[in-house]
Amino acid sequence: MTWDTLIQKAWITRANAYAPYSQFQVGAAIESESGNVYGGCNVENLSFGLTNCAERVAIVAAVAAGEKNITRVVVVADTDTPVSPCGACRQVMAEFGVKEILLCNRTEQILFTLDELLPRSSAGILNR
Ligand code: THU
Repeated sequence: MTWDTLIQKAWITRANAYAPYSQFQVGAAIESESGNVYGGCNVENLSFGLTNCAERVAIVAAVAAGEKNITRVVVVADTDTPVSPCGACRQVMAEFGVKEILLCNRTEQILFTLDELLPRSSAGILNR
């Protein structure tokens, strides 16, 4: 699977974002170890703390479909600088073994490893 396929899926899913409070739409797409792709968008709530980020929506959809290992994540938003996942999403990525994260806006793509975004996330407890 190419990065472009994942990027396209992320932009398409972003169009479903429910973001009436922030007016900020985010899309995500993930690839599972078995090669399946899942999309996610942010889903907000009047009770702001209940907001679901696009990345976690995609991961939760994958897990609900029976996936336990996720390899790659793409995040897209229409920003000047590619948007960066929140700490909670990084921790959830660690839980399911994400290796690489590509952050994209309309023109730019920046590739990170999870270890760069969340150093030593699996040290100690997760790999005991
Ligand atoms: N958001 C995401 O969905 N992913 C990110 O990586 C950054 C932030 C959402 C949460 C909220 O709905 C809106 O963007 C503004 O923070």
